[in-house]
Amino acid sequence: MTEVTDESYEPADHYDRVTHAWGLLLGAELHYGVFATPDEELDRATHRLTERMEEGARFEKGLRVLDVGCGTGAQARHLATTHGVDVVGITTSPVGVATARELTEAAGLSDQVSFEQRDATANEFPDDSFDRVWILESSHLMRDREALVSEATRVLRPGGRLVWCDIVRHRVIPFLEVRDRRDEFATLREAFGDARMEPLADYVRWFEEAGLTVEQADDLTEATLPTFQAWRDNAARHRDAVVEALGERGHEAFVRSADILESLWRDGTFGYGLIAAAKPAP
Ligand SMILES: C[S@@+](CC[C@H](N)C(=O)[O-])C[C@H]1O[C@@H](n2cnc3c(N)ncnc32)[C@H](O)[C@@H]1O
Repeated sequence: MTEVTDESYEPADHYDRVTHAWGLLLGAELHYGVFATPDEELDRATHRLTERMEEGARFEKGLRVLDVGCGTGAQARHLATTHGVDVVGITTSPVGVATARELTEAAGLSDQVSFEQRDATANEFPDDSFDRVWILESSHLMRDREALVSEATRVLRPGGRLVWCDIVRHRVIPFLEVRDRRDEFATLREAFGDARMEPLADYVRWFEEAGLTVEQADDLTEATLPTFQAWRDNAARHRDAVVEALGERGHEAFVRSADILESLWRDGTFGYGLIAAAKPAP
C-alpha cells in the first residue's frame, strides 16, 4: 500500500495504544466478519470467520497450536475450550501479551493457553514443534511475508495443518494513484498501523514454495464487505469511550478509515482471503 520506513514501522507501539479501544470498535473478536446477510450482528459474522478457519484447521483434542498474531488471546482461549487443544499465542505487543495472560488467568485456562512476545518472522521455536499454525489477520502487519510463511512452515510438524486469513490486494496500485490517494492511505495508517496487502495468489505461491500443499484458497471479499458499516455503527455507539482512549482524532480516523476501506473493497482494490494448507508427511 504505502511505503514504510524502518523508523516508522512500529506495530507493537501501535497496538499497545489501541488495544483497549479496539474491543469497543471491532467487537468481541478483533477481525473482519464473514456476513451471511449484510445486517447480521458483527459478533456473529466475526465468529463465522473463526469457524471457517476452524473447519480448515481440523482440530483434534490435545494438539499443540501456534496462534500467530494473537491479539489479546480471545481466539486462543476459544480454540482451547472448544477443541481441547493447547495453544501458544505470539504477538509483538507487550500490552497484548499482558492482557492476554490476565484474561486467560481469569478464565482458568493458563495451563492450556500461554502467550509470548515473539516476532512471527523470526519466532525461534524449534522445527516441527506445532501440530497446527493459525494466522488470523496478522500477516498484513508484518514486513517480511515470506519470512512469516517460512517460519510458520518450519515450526509445523509434517502432517500438520496451517490456516491463514487476511486482507488481500486485488490489483497493482500505480504510483500516481498512491500519490493521489496519499491522504487516504495516511488515514488508514493512523487508524490501523502500517500495513501491506498482497494478492491471495501470492500467499498461495509462498505457502506452496515453502513446502505446504494448499487445499483451499477462498476469496471472501463480498462476504466481508458489511464489516465496515458495523464498525461505523460501533464507533457511533461507543463514541465517548473511544474518544477517551484514542482521542477525537483517533475516533475520526477510524470512522474515515472504515469509509476508505469500504471504497477500496467496492472499487476492486482490496478484499479478503482465506487459505487452508497441509504440510506433507514424509
Ligand atoms: C489485527 S490483530 C489480530 C488479532 C487476532 N488474530 C484476532 O483476530 O483477534 C493483529 C495482531 O498481530 C500482531 N502482530 C503484528 N506484527 C506481528 C509480528 N511481526 N509477529 C507477531 N505478531 C504480530 C499484533 O500485535 C496483533 O496482536
